[in-house]
Amino acid sequence: MKKGLTHYGDDGFSLYIRKAFIKAMGYTDDALSRPIIGIANTYSGYNACHATIPQIVEAVKRGVMLAGGLPIEFPTISLHESFAFPTSMFLRNLMSMDTEEMIKAQPMDAVVLVGGCDKTVPALLMGAASANVPAIVEVTGPMLTGTHHGERIGACTDCRRFWAKYRGGEIDADEVEELTNQLVPTAGTCGVMGTASTMALMTEAMGMMLPGGAAIPATYADRPRQAEQTGARAVAMAAENLSPDQVMTPAAIRNALRVLHAIGGSTNAIIHTTAIAGRLGIPVDLQEFDALGRDIPVLVDLKPSGRYYMEDLYRAGGLAPILRRLADHLELDALTVTGRTLGEEIEGMAAEYPQDVVRPLDDPIHPGGGIAVLTGNLAPDGAIIKQAAAAPELLVHEGRALVFSSMADLAARIDAPDLDVAADDILVMQNAGPLGAPGMPESGYLPIPRKLAEQGVKDMIRLSDARMSGTAFGSIILHVAPEAAAGGPLALVRTGDRIRLDVPNRRLDLLIDDDELAARRAAWMPPAPHQGAERGYLNLFLESVTQAPEGCDFDFLKAR
Ligand code: FES
Repeated sequence: MKKGLTHYGDDGFSLYIRKAFIKAMGYTDDALSRPIIGIANTYSGYNACHATIPQIVEAVKRGVMLAGGLPIEFPTISLHESFAFPTSMFLRNLMSMDTEEMIKAQPMDAVVLVGGCDKTVPALLMGAASANVPAIVEVTGPMLTGTHHGERIGACTDCRRFWAKYRGGEIDADEVEELTNQLVPTAGTCGVMGTASTMALMTEAMGMMLPGGAAIPATYADRPRQAEQTGARAVAMAAENLSPDQVMTPAAIRNALRVLHAIGGSTNAIIHTTAIAGRLGIPVDLQEFDALGRDIPVLVDLKPSGRYYMEDLYRAGGLAPILRRLADHLELDALTVTGRTLGEEIEGMAAEYPQDVVRPLDDPIHPGGGIAVLTGNLAPDGAIIKQAAAAPELLVHEGRALVFSSMADLAARIDAPDLDVAADDILVMQNAGPLGAPGMPESGYLPIPRKLAEQGVKDMIRLSDARMSGTAFGSIILHVAPEAAAGGPLALVRTGDRIRLDVPNRRLDLLIDDDELAARRAAWMPPAPHQGAERGYLNLFLESVTQAPEGCDFDFLKAR
């Protein structure tokens, strides 16, 4: 209770008045003498991924009290992917600031971070890293699958697959309406290897979650049981003063990135991990990330790269079989929130049993790294491609660029019957990055032009400075940096230019000569300012956001 007293100019008075107010919540002196465990509660009526949080918080509280602590929950911003205009990424840093400042402003000896949907776990970890109070994560867990006309389905890879069918004229609007009853059949996070699942598994791998917690479905009884244990562990962490900087070390961050490759995880996780690590002064280099993946195959057979769903991964043992297979690649002395090392946790994991969701090392889904990092004159600071989810025949490809200058331009023209486009063209979208969109939305999954979709074209190379949902799939190049709105070479591409992609050699090049590129650069004009950019959070965002290779964090939030 004495931590971070409000400044009234008299600390004795500050403590006295604080006690008076907290006692109005019904606490006794005995309760107030216990270690205080804050619980960051990200429940919101808009957020189905967090619908079970009241039950989880109750279980965390039970665990805290069983261990002799006093749980006190507090609200933070809640972000759901479909309820965040203009995009949840625009608000991730705001949520991280809220989390950091509320942890620092209120007295707590440790904090349990309860989140789940894509941006919430990164934001909670970013805030907790900066606050550096002992912290442990409890995720809400994945949703279960539904059925549609006898077919097993789940958000959100199947959302996109059925929408592509609708665009191609294979299903009608009535069936689309019917699908909305089954694509998200329960509370919980998206049930495929999207960003939420990826970040949950990486959080467990980096040691910020109790072992076994990442894959438990939201609606299973195991979930509140795990939450209870998390609450109890938080009390012990408070006594040990086991702070985030002791757990999220460079080795732990590298372990998480290795797991990202092995699970065929979301491309968004690179940006989030870079931002989390940046809060602790740990640089994440894209080339190092690519090198980490060269000898780590994709092992997990989950959509969008594979066949299964998160509930299947849970039945297959969750992260345990993945860590066991990767053990030779991991830095096993990394400390976890249990106070034991990752190596000790792997040794203590339940014995292996037959399953086919996590493949053996010698029979992977993809032989080397889920995500490849590209560079070249089109992306001097890097770009990425989720090679495990791309058409193999397109990984080396040269084609004609068809350029859209913005998301609005794309929406206006992509379905035009007279669009001059062929299946071997490369679709290019500009001005959808952190500054350009703004907020770097998940618009990098450019739709196949309707006239090609109707001819049965399912994939083609698409390229932008935007992000893509982890639930999406295809031959899609993302996070091109510097972005077009910052004057990157992407801004200089014109329809008809030739572009060459060579994933095995990690190259992305615009095939025009340097003089022509220089002439275009000299003539380049930045896009018009965004409406409302002169004030408020948008102003702060545009003044402070960094590019994708730096995690899109605000420059002033990174560790100095
Ligand atoms: Fe929340 Fe997918 S929308 S995890």
